[in-house]
Amino acid sequence: MTMRIDVLTLFPAMFQGPMTESMLWKARDRQLLDLRLHDIRDFTTDKHRTADDIPYGGGGGMIMKPEPVVAAIEYALQDAPPRTPVILMTPQGRVFSHAIAKELAEQPHLILLCGRYEGIDDRVRQLLVTDEISIGDYVLTGGELPAMVIIDALVRHIPGVLGAEGAADRDSHADGILEAPHYTRPPEFRGLSVPAVLTEGHGAKLAQWRREQGLRRTWERRPDLLLKADLTEDERYLLGRFADEDARRLSSAK
Ligand code: ADE
Repeated sequence: MTMRIDVLTLFPAMFQGPMTESMLWKARDRQLLDLRLHDIRDFTTDKHRTADDIPYGGGGGMIMKPEPVVAAIEYALQDAPPRTPVILMTPQGRVFSHAIAKELAEQPHLILLCGRYEGIDDRVRQLLVTDEISIGDYVLTGGELPAMVIIDALVRHIPGVLGAEGAADRDSHADGILEAPHYTRPPEFRGLSVPAVLTEGHGAKLAQWRREQGLRRTWERRPDLLLKADLTEDERYLLGRFADEDARRLSSAK
């Protein structure tokens, strides 16, 4: 299945590079991703190709005019299946995550709308936007980088893009737990050796070690994730052990 993504932006050149290298290029080359960039300025109708204007009520900054943006969205929607998501990149949207990447990867067609300046006339949102996504609680100068982040994260979920089928399901965050550390050759580097369990070839022991390492990292770095993770009884027991270790360390440090 080819996934089609139409990106509407005032700065299509920003996508050169990130969208033409590595995995993204492979996905496009194999026709798994049909990425189409549209310059919103091409949908203006005046001779100066005006895409922005001053805000009603003052306040400074420039606002993207509704007419060219709506024309660009309607153009992209022309041959789109019904209920194709029209997603506005905005710091006011729902915060992007592994789960949202997976959800979006199931769509055959997406339209990503990148705002610039202070924002887009709100009537565009009211008329045509079906979803709003933020990539984090900080403000960027535009929606182009967020759109690229989203494309990169969801293309990894399209079957056939990653080497080993389903590898995206083993990533950090896939099941609410961070990944175990990775090693490659040489077996010893600057006095640090590779954990023996990785070279012993004992499958069950290795799986157990990875799960424990991932769980330990999550406990130490992102305990907030554990509240939502789907944990087995063994994993709950391990968490109890980590907590005991921490408590012992704290009391011996007194
Ligand atoms: N536009 C500006 N900042 C943004 C953010 N954090 N996420 C998505 N779009 C944005």
